[in-house]
Amino acid sequence: MSTADNWHPVGLSHSIEAGSSAGTRLFGQELVVWRDASGMAHVWEDRCPHRGMKLSFGFVRGNHIACLYHGWQYDRGGYCQYIPAHPDLEVPQTIKVPIYLTQEQGGMIWTTLSGNPAPLPAGRDQAVPLRSLYLDCSAEAAVTGLGLVKLTPFVSRGLADTVVHHVTDTLHAVSTGDDRLLIGVQAVSETRTALHVAICGAPEVYEGPGQSHFLDWALQLRRAIEQPDLRPPAARGAALEMN
Ligand code: FES
Repeated sequence: MSTADNWHPVGLSHSIEAGSSAGTRLFGQELVVWRDASGMAHVWEDRCPHRGMKLSFGFVRGNHIACLYHGWQYDRGGYCQYIPAHPDLEVPQTIKVPIYLTQEQGGMIWTTLSGNPAPLPAGRDQAVPLRSLYLDCSAEAAVTGLGLVKLTPFVSRGLADTVVHHVTDTLHAVSTGDDRLLIGVQAVSETRTALHVAICGAPEVYEGPGQSHFLDWALQLRRAIEQPDLRPPAARGAALEMN
């Protein structure tokens, strides 16, 4: 999977509340994902320009993030605006954290390491978060395994084929009948992958029982990808669609 010009999911939107931050990795690069008080999500390099402390250990204050170590504060553009040890200093604009383009779509937070990415595919209006699954395998192995476990319909009861649709290198859909799951694939490292799973549809339809229904599939899928010996026989009938 290439990094150039791609958008990559770095978490489910609901997992980062306003005023909070979390650390993650993309192709081994450490990133901080944080959401300011207005609700806007940000993805930055997870390293304070002062002495290298992880900013994901810091504190979100309004629309700033403050480093845990010496309290330097960075605005939404990544510029340092305040140094507690020198409160009257006009901070040079050269003190800046590298930041990355960030969008939210399909119930996920997306970023790109490219300055000129291809457009993020248009998303559905509503998505219900399911689970982020962390697997000990490459992103390619995870994508190859998406059809291994048959998906049982929730809205339209009965039997239907399981279809895997590859939207982009990092966005996939698994559907059956009228139900559709979005799968964002995050290459954490060469041997570690996160699958961010959301249900396409309205919360009043899927929240609660619908989430429980598809969570079983998600957990079976993780086992099937990581442990080939335990794959269920039903998986062999899954269809695969390519763009
Ligand atoms: S290391 Fe971040 S403020 Fe010093």
